[in-house]
Amino acid sequence: MNPRRWPIVTDADRAAIARVLDRGVLSGAGAPEVKALETEFAAAVGARCCLATNSGTSALHIALAAAGVGPGDEVIVPALSFIATAQAVLQQGATPVFADVDPDIYNIDPADAARRVTSRTRAIVPVHLHGLPADMDAIEALARGHRLTVIEDAAQAHGAVYKGRAVGTLAAMAAFSLNSTKNLPAGEGGLFVTDSEELYARAARVRFDGLEPPSKWDPTHPLDDEADAHATLRGWMYLPGELTSALARSQLQRLAETTARSQRNAARLSARLATLPGVEPPRIPPDRTHVFHKYRVRLDGARPGAGLGPTALRDRVLEALRAEGVEAVLWQTAPLPAHPLFASRERYPNAEAALASTLVIGSQSYPLFAQPLEVVDAWADAFERVWKVILRAAERIYR
Ligand SMILES: Cc1ncc(COP(=O)(O)O)c(C=O)c1O
Repeated sequence: MNPRRWPIVTDADRAAIARVLDRGVLSGAGAPEVKALETEFAAAVGARCCLATNSGTSALHIALAAAGVGPGDEVIVPALSFIATAQAVLQQGATPVFADVDPDIYNIDPADAARRVTSRTRAIVPVHLHGLPADMDAIEALARGHRLTVIEDAAQAHGAVYKGRAVGTLAAMAAFSLNSTKNLPAGEGGLFVTDSEELYARAARVRFDGLEPPSKWDPTHPLDDEADAHATLRGWMYLPGELTSALARSQLQRLAETTARSQRNAARLSARLATLPGVEPPRIPPDRTHVFHKYRVRLDGARPGAGLGPTALRDRVLEALRAEGVEAVLWQTAPLPAHPLFASRERYPNAEAALASTLVIGSQSYPLFAQPLEVVDAWADAFERVWKVILRAAERIYR
């Protein structure tokens, strides 16, 4: 059976796009699809306020701007993430300071983050990497002690829950992504959420070239929704269009279904992989749920029998899985501080070890969370075959 490609587009999505085209309104800060998306996503997350943006990166950027982060400030971010987490800090003229990650769950290590705090630190951006919430209690405690603003990077974690609370409501502000690869896909787009009217008002102006969003929208003059006030601060044009917003609304209706399928598939695959010596499925602390935007497996080369160095083992398994028709990728090959943009010489041992000894089952185009059970089982069968061959070969070499 062929794997299912992401994103899945349904008749409901087509109808949503047709609705926008029939209406003939393609944009506007007060336009109906944008406004409805904001109301519906805020309700889905349980936050008071939401702003739709044209990317997850811009949602993060307006959060940092609303927090008052600026030149001379430092913002702590994890060493393992997508580069956007650090770029948003640079966009606001501040300096990203990288903290290492927890070796078991790959999210920011609160103890290492605490060691990075200086008198210039203004904010911390925990990333709920791959769909697993970060250790928010420890991060909140750290932030309280140093008066830091916490902004959740929830780009990969729509629908995840930490201690009974939805991701997006665990800090002052949060940013989600609507990029096609995500569990809530709409092409390119983002969502900013907060419970604070004040932060919302500031972020709304940063999103709209520094202007107050229009208080009225007139369907007979949809392009005349001029701002009610003059610019009061520096802003960017980060508004999404109506087509994207309508598609996001339609996809939002299926987010719970996507989350359930993702968790079902991950549980099935983990049950199979956990029986293989030296293979470690993703860990989930008992106080939170994982939505498995990405499914990262650790391979233990030190286990008796495997006998290969971590990257050699990882590369061999990756190649063999692909030869078996399994979708598998590395997703990130270096910690963020090692990107040429930062060229940091500092070592981040846990982030480095995580990248060296793990791979992701499912690709961006064919993620695990999109698959029917038959494909999950076929991938598990193939993994077992590959692992058996690797163990046998290693035994022959090292006996
Ligand atoms: C962890 C993380 N942060 C931020 C982003 C940025 O989102 P976008 O690509 O929508 O700008 C992404 C998405 O790729 C991401 O994975």
